[in-house]
Amino acid sequence: MYYGEKRVEEPIRWGMVGGGKGSQIGYIHRSAALRDNNFQLVAGAFDIDPARGKTFGESLHVAPERCYPDYKTMFAEEAKRPDGIQAVSIATPNSMHYEVCKAALEAGLHVVCEKPLCFTSAEANDLIRLAEEKKRVVGVTYGYSGHQLIQQARQMIKHGDLGEIRIINMSFAFGGYNVKIEETNPAAKWRFDPKKAGPSFALGDVGTHPLFIIEAMMPDLQIDNLMCTKRAFVEGRELEDNAFVIMNLKGSEHIQAGAQVYCWASSINSGARHYHKIRVVGSKASLEWDDERPNQMLYEVEGEPSRVLERGAGYLYDEARVEDRIGGGHAEGLFEAWSNLYARFAVAMADADKGVYGDFWYPDVKAGAQGIKWIEKCVESAEHGAAWVDYD
Ligand SMILES: NC(=O)c1ccc[n+]([C@@H]2O[C@H](COP(=O)([O-])OP(=O)(O)OC[C@H]3O[C@@H](n4cnc5c(N)ncnc54)[C@H](O)[C@@H]3O)[C@@H](O)[C@H]2O)c1
Repeated sequence: MYYGEKRVEEPIRWGMVGGGKGSQIGYIHRSAALRDNNFQLVAGAFDIDPARGKTFGESLHVAPERCYPDYKTMFAEEAKRPDGIQAVSIATPNSMHYEVCKAALEAGLHVVCEKPLCFTSAEANDLIRLAEEKKRVVGVTYGYSGHQLIQQARQMIKHGDLGEIRIINMSFAFGGYNVKIEETNPAAKWRFDPKKAGPSFALGDVGTHPLFIIEAMMPDLQIDNLMCTKRAFVEGRELEDNAFVIMNLKGSEHIQAGAQVYCWASSINSGARHYHKIRVVGSKASLEWDDERPNQMLYEVEGEPSRVLERGAGYLYDEARVEDRIGGGHAEGLFEAWSNLYARFAVAMADADKGVYGDFWYPDVKAGAQGIKWIEKCVESAEHGAAWVDYD
């Protein structure tokens, strides 16, 4: 159980790029970072429109002189201050991620970056190299992975409760983009522009979420090869609004060689909210988790009645209970999941400053790079008529 005790000696001085007023994701970054006093918001280049960004920053109690017109000015000015920022979060459209992340690392800052981390594996590898060279942390906000029952699934698989893993059936297939929403919604518009969104929409915007969740559940998961078919159902879109992927996995301690993963990434699943579900099927039992009901997980052992595991319950593995903030029976949600990740980012950053590296997981720069490689391989397969593509 977590009672809000401090996790880092001093709150980390923190700035934001993007996440301005009206953005979809800015508020949850602030809420997650500020909830446990691990970070202190002291600066920002919050908006593509500098005046709007300044007004908004001031409304967040950021000092007017630290509400900057752009990230370059922010990094340069903050570096001159004895109390300058130590970390920055990037919550802009995708096309800015690589450039800002690179500049932040070069400026010696820790980074929390939105997904997808960048556009190409070459860029991702560049960020990995730079983060290692500068000894800085890059966290990537695969926010759903901070839910406590993901930790439970990880432990159950590790302890062999499911047997050998054979099949993973997963989806993130939301509705709402079944019509040309980008004509009226600016946040939808950039998502179909390859210059701003990158080489994919559905795969990168939502498919990478369940991908990281299964990597968190099975840290030894390795893709052997994959095939992907994708298309835009709504006319005039440059990027796909729907994709299907099948993957074969390599064998490992808990995964049967040739285990198969099916992934549906979509934005046109009419009537659905998220449809973000993951079913992991082992040789003895299966697990199923749905992000719209994150406090419960279905556990089905062959030959026994189905069970519903509840977040916060005493029968869970310890690792699934340390981040319980309110006790079982009460609902926790995405805000708490993100707070759990931001707390781990903070500890990783404080550790890195001391030159020590704790034994805990969080979506890091390599997880971000893995998402980029997966998108690249899916696009390659789809462009060759859904051909099987080797992963390595
Ligand atoms: N992790 C998640 O679950 C999740 C969920 C939604 C979005 N996202 C990601 O978050 C990012 C932002 O998405 P969104 O939906 O909030 O977008 P949005 O269009 O709603 O907001 C983008 C914000 O960035 C600002 N901005 C744009 N260019 C900028 C620049 N050069 N400098 C400073 N600010 C700039 C805009 O003014 C706006 O405030 C995307 O990469 C998206 O993939 C992640």
